[in-house]
Amino acid sequence: MSHTVMQARDLTRHYEVSQGFLKPKAMVKALNGVSFELKAGKTLAVVGESGCGKSTLARQLTLIEAPTAGSLVLEGVDIAKASKAELKALRSKVQMVFQNPYASLNPRQKIGDQLGEPLLINTNLSAKEREEKVRAMMKRVGLRPEHYYRYPHMFSGGQRQRIAIARAMMLQPQIVVADEPTSALDVSIQAQVLNLFMDLQDEFNTAYVFISHNLAVVEHVADDLMVMYLGRAVEVGTKEVIYDKPLHPYTQALLSATPSIHEEDRRVKIKIQGELPSPLNPPTGCAFHKRCPYASAQCSQDVPQLRTLLGREVACHHAETINA
Ligand SMILES: Nc1ncnc2c1ncn2[C@@H]1O[C@H](COP(=O)(O)OP(=O)(O)O)[C@@H](O)[C@H]1O
Ligand code: SF4
Ligand SMILES: [Mg+2]
Repeated sequence: MSHTVMQARDLTRHYEVSQGFLKPKAMVKALNGVSFELKAGKTLAVVGESGCGKSTLARQLTLIEAPTAGSLVLEGVDIAKASKAELKALRSKVQMVFQNPYASLNPRQKIGDQLGEPLLINTNLSAKEREEKVRAMMKRVGLRPEHYYRYPHMFSGGQRQRIAIARAMMLQPQIVVADEPTSALDVSIQAQVLNLFMDLQDEFNTAYVFISHNLAVVEHVADDLMVMYLGRAVEVGTKEVIYDKPLHPYTQALLSATPSIHEEDRRVKIKIQGELPSPLNPPTGCAFHKRCPYASAQCSQDVPQLRTLLGREVACHHAETINA
């Protein structure tokens, strides 16, 4: 049995925003109580449309921000109770890969030096040992070690993402949070980068939180899946169970809008109408009710909680009748 490397309980992040001069401050409820457990060597895919809180979640998980409420336990350590020294150690165990690799690389630093930096900061290795490790990792991610002295602009988008992945892996972290890591890449390159993620996971037993707005992208990498809507999880379970038979109307709509997957078993085509509501002023009841073809009066009043149904968790009042 692999051990739990990360546990989130009701993780919440609200942002206070100004509404203008003399107006009261408002709260953006970007993340509204998300819970999950991540095992060593496994991938949790987080999926939902733009604005649903995925990057906010990523910033809490990588300790870039502190959550407003809820708890996060990394390698058995509750981050809210961790000492400075413990937090420093945890930061090297959780690394992030961003959507745009160019923005996360320093344009004026040779990539060999950028890749060696985590080793310089966190280990006592000599310059020669660091260089050897960097060259080995470059080779491992499909870059030519003789490109050690090049600058980021001399690489293609796909190669730059390989550099960003190499840097995230340098300290062999327990967890990598990848926020839309292939969304900025050509479709032809995406599969290669996804395969690289999979190979590195096999080799290093890294756990991934893999964030995407696209269910087709995560189909091959995910073990578990969490579908988010307006800061909450609406359906959580194993990839097999959810792709086989999604129960939440939002998951069903996302899947039916993903043409490459299981097209033949899509019985109902659901189109999502309208736009994602604002987390500044979320709808009452089920946040999906204004766009849901099955919404009832109850849906506009009561917030549906996650509950177990047919081997996964789903937050919908009418999941049984919809899927009968
Ligand atoms: N620092 C911030 N201040 C105020 N609002 C924010 C901040 N960061 C994110 N938001 C808002 O939170 C919501 C979720 O954003 P985000 O986490 O970036 O979603 P996603 O990554 O799924 O597109 C959006 O409405 C966004 O505008
Ligand atoms: S709770 Fe109601 S509005 Fe929300 S997804 Fe279910 S049926 Fe639709
Ligand atoms: Mg995002």
